[in-house]
Amino acid sequence: MTQKTENTVWHAHLVTKQERAQLKNQKPCLLWYTGLSGSGKSTVANAVDDILFQRQCHTYLLDGDNVRHGLNGDLGFSDEDRIENIRRISQVGKLFVDSGLICSTAFISPFQSDRDMARNMLEQGEFIEVFIDTPIEICEQRDPKGLYKMARAGEIKDFTGIDSTYDTPVTPEIHVKTADKSIEQCAMQIVSYLEVNGYLT
Ligand code: PPS
Repeated sequence: MTQKTENTVWHAHLVTKQERAQLKNQKPCLLWYTGLSGSGKSTVANAVDDILFQRQCHTYLLDGDNVRHGLNGDLGFSDEDRIENIRRISQVGKLFVDSGLICSTAFISPFQSDRDMARNMLEQGEFIEVFIDTPIEICEQRDPKGLYKMARAGEIKDFTGIDSTYDTPVTPEIHVKTADKSIEQCAMQIVSYLEVNGYLT
């Protein structure tokens, strides 16, 4: 990729991230949801976003399929494209955090190295890795888009968990085991983490 940054200069904003966030009584952060296809990332992220919105927090949710329809519409599912997908989303997420928001991203983000890259772009405490832990057998039973069936039939290549890698998060800030919980319980586990750790002031 061509680097075109030689003649550009980073401008510091007069209004800081902290000042923007203070208006809303919240601590900006990036809630980084990761998990297999069909694990419930989007569903839980939406439920959390809804609770935060009801509490008058200022939030935004970047969601897998939607972002792939627009910003990342040129990318497929090779390892290389997934890395670029996550790189762009990390940059956008960082901008939203800089704007004082509680931003959520719901992408498979299968590689630990990319999730670590996103973490390292942010300040201490701003990156919250949320592992939506749903066993592949359950994801496959649900198969909401029929993709597992197609992958098993060889009609989709490079499908996460089947013929493409998923690195299980090692030390996520929040580990949500969805199998024996309702969507509301999963969402409340995440909201409680935000409360206890001072993100909702
Ligand atoms: S990644 O790995 O983070 O770049 O993937 P992401 O941007 O989250 O996109 C995942 C959604 O794309 C659909 N889809 C696939 N997923 C995995 N592997 C392959 N090969 C694939 N092809 C299409 C699928 O609907 C994913 O949506 P979710 O919501 O995760 O089920």
